[in-house]
Amino acid sequence: MEFPNGEQSRELLQAQAHIWNQIFNFINSMSLKCAIQLGILEVIHSHGRPMTLSELVDALPIHQTKAKFIYRLMRILIHSGFFVRQKILENDEEGGYLLTLPSQLLLKDEPYSMTPYLVAMLDPILINPWHHVSEWFQNDDPTPFHMTQGKTFWEYASHKPKLNHFFNDAMSSDSRLVTSVVIKDYKGVFEGFNSLVDVGGGVGTVAKAIADEFPHLKCIVLDLPHVVADLEGTENLSYVGGDMFEAIPPADVVLLKWILHDWSDEESLRILKKCREAIPSKDKGGKVIIIDMIVQNQKGDDESIETQLFFDMLMMIVLTGRERNEKEWAKLFFDAGFSDYKITPILGLRSVIEVYP
Ligand SMILES: C[S@@+](CC[C@H](N)C(=O)[O-])C[C@H]1O[C@@H](n2cnc3c(N)ncnc32)[C@H](O)[C@@H]1O
Repeated sequence: MEFPNGEQSRELLQAQAHIWNQIFNFINSMSLKCAIQLGILEVIHSHGRPMTLSELVDALPIHQTKAKFIYRLMRILIHSGFFVRQKILENDEEGGYLLTLPSQLLLKDEPYSMTPYLVAMLDPILINPWHHVSEWFQNDDPTPFHMTQGKTFWEYASHKPKLNHFFNDAMSSDSRLVTSVVIKDYKGVFEGFNSLVDVGGGVGTVAKAIADEFPHLKCIVLDLPHVVADLEGTENLSYVGGDMFEAIPPADVVLLKWILHDWSDEESLRILKKCREAIPSKDKGGKVIIIDMIVQNQKGDDESIETQLFFDMLMMIVLTGRERNEKEWAKLFFDAGFSDYKITPILGLRSVIEVYP
């Protein structure tokens, strides 16, 4: 490359800045993780009014030699939208910190807290495979996760209770929010049935909420034996340990929340065929309800598109899955022998997809 002049050198420097920005993308997530580990969100929340820097520093469990660095951590987290600074007095330059909606959603005691999800996704066990992606492209290992651990993610979780627990907690934190929205805005999706099986339903957070809302509905959670071991059901909720590739308990409705994006097309087809065997025919009202992303479903803003692409990469690195556009979903449904589907985009980046035999 020859050294450019004028306009070209401006563009070259912009390109350099873009590269810096991409290189240091991880600093946003790691700064947020640090704030959560230090309990900064809880301290500001419980203060009850804008909190000055010196009040914040005094309240944090940090070494006195680190007090002067908190301002810098807070500054980047204001930039990434997790805090705002509000004036306390008219002539006061400094102001005080307040939470924003995203940081309120990360408070540990908030019922819809996303902190378990953040803690799981930023754990070294899930970050490590990203260092080996180019090697994975050059060998025949199924995923970078498998390459680094010698096992699939699910096999690994079955041997590591700590990972099993924090992963299940992460999924439950997401499920609490999603289920509340579906029950509030689209309750009819579960009406008119006698039984439902939540396939890959984890520790049953979704099924429990549905079972409470519809006491006459018999709900079953099917998940791997290590996930459902020791869980106790209720009057209308039971747990089955098993393998969805082998058998799915019969029910009027099968629910697949955040399942098919974990799997390749071939594997998803096998799961969908098992779902079809488990539900009644079309005239008897059987259906499969899927909660997953549809990429390019709506014209998204840049951040939404980037987030869907992040998920697609995550599914490739940790699991054998992928995110799909509507055409790719439709092909899966028709190849598995279903006749029709309906998409209801009420879940932000995800949708409810009803699939009919
Ligand atoms: C991404 S999590 C989703 C959990 C839950 N549906 C939710 O959204 O909260 C995927 C779930 O599939 C389960 N799973 C993986 N392989 C399975 C299999 N062969 N049979 C049954 N469940 C399986 C995992 O244990 C995990 O709970």
